[in-house]
Amino acid sequence: MTIQRYLTYYCPRILTISKKYRFLSIFILSIFIFLFIIYNIHISIHQNTQQFDDSISYKKSLNLLHKQKVLVPVSINRLYDYQVVCTGNNGILNRTNLIHQISTICKINLNGSLKINLNPTNDFQIRSSLTLKYVKLWKTFNTCSIFENETIAIIISYRDREKNLQTLLYNLLPFLQRQKIFNYKIFIIEQQTSGAFNKGRLYNIGFYHIMKIYKPTCVIFHDVDLIPENDQNLYSCLKLTNHPLHMSANVRFKINGSYTTIYSFLVGGVLTIRPETFILLNGYSNRYFNWGGEDDDMGLRFLSKDICVQRPTTGYYYAGSHSTQIRNENRFKLLFDATLRQDIDGLNNIDQLARVTNTYEYPLVTWITVKWIDKYSSIS
Ligand SMILES: *[C@@H]1O[C@H](CO)[C@@H](O)[C@H](O)[C@H]1NC(C)=O
Ligand SMILES: *[C@@H]1O[C@H](CO)[C@@H](O)[C@H](O)[C@H]1NC(C)=O
Ligand SMILES: *[C@@H]1O[C@H](CO)[C@@H](O)[C@H](O)[C@H]1NC(C)=O
Ligand SMILES: *[C@@H]1O[C@H](CO)[C@@H](O)[C@H](O)[C@H]1NC(C)=O
Repeated sequence: MTIQRYLTYYCPRILTISKKYRFLSIFILSIFIFLFIIYNIHISIHQNTQQFDDSISYKKSLNLLHKQKVLVPVSINRLYDYQVVCTGNNGILNRTNLIHQISTICKINLNGSLKINLNPTNDFQIRSSLTLKYVKLWKTFNTCSIFENETIAIIISYRDREKNLQTLLYNLLPFLQRQKIFNYKIFIIEQQTSGAFNKGRLYNIGFYHIMKIYKPTCVIFHDVDLIPENDQNLYSCLKLTNHPLHMSANVRFKINGSYTTIYSFLVGGVLTIRPETFILLNGYSNRYFNWGGEDDDMGLRFLSKDICVQRPTTGYYYAGSHSTQIRNENRFKLLFDATLRQDIDGLNNIDQLARVTNTYEYPLVTWITVKWIDKYSSIS
């Protein structure tokens, strides 16, 4: 018998055990081998599919560029040829069915039309208790059960843009109410350190802090100058696979102007993402000062982690005007080795670079002020 011969060779001692026990030992041994194989299959499945808490699994996209081989160092001239939006039908997120479901269950009429208002009333001063009256208007508890398990953090990076912020909130709050989203908080992350502005750092320290005090299941990073213009553009992670959602692909700069479709590599503006995914990316880079680069750096982070973004069919925005910003002349140099730095520059070293100095609770927002704590950072 083959087994007999096998045993004689590999474990001769088994043959010295009486026949009754010999059978039992082989039986137990087989069970161990069986369990071992099952365990290994399990492990290898979990290495390919990242499992997130609401059991939507995220399969790595094979369509993206092969990581490291092409990306590092990135050829700047070819940066905009890279595809950060998922290919094929996955590139767009069509939530028509979800909107239909919400409309039926929660009795709302989200028909895509939305009139934005660019002239907030005078008493709409965000850092004043006068806005209490708007809480009654826009935050009456009237939640839709579809959103019951979701906690949303809207994170806005900020400095010196009072008018933009005022206009955004004056439209965003009624917008969220219209969508019956109530389980949210808006966080303004303000840079107190003078000198060059650093959006990536603000988002990182904001996220880091908010994860401790609020524990959102869905995070929306929001530029202060973009106002949503389509009420079907749901500010929610529902029905989102673990691909982040680039919300602001169509932007217009004049209220009656036409929409510009933003270049395909851009993930900046308004980005909806699950916290797990943001952590996996190690957040934004902390090294981009002044205007430009940090969003493209984020795009590269997506590519190197094989994550592609989707864009909703309803992502239409109005961009408010503001003074021009100082460009970051250093950005191409930084983008060159962006993915090499990814795992050491971001969320995991933000606590050495920035510190929350104060937190104020206002009726409509939580206002967080931030300072840099590293010595070279205020150089502009
Ligand atoms: C979205 O899906 C619905 C049906 O589920 C379809 O009728 C509609 O045309 C789709 N919209 C776009 C922009 O693809
Ligand atoms: C969309 O819904 C709003 C609010 O219910 C309504 O005032 C508006 O007339 C609707 N628009 C269309 C095109 O149905
Ligand atoms: C929310 O979570 C509870 C408990 O897991 C579940 O029973 C319920 O169906 C969830 N609600 C929605 C709308 O998904
Ligand atoms: C935009 O167009 C609408 C109608 O076409 C008009 O009522 C409105 O005044 C215009 N707004 C501006 C700011 O021009």
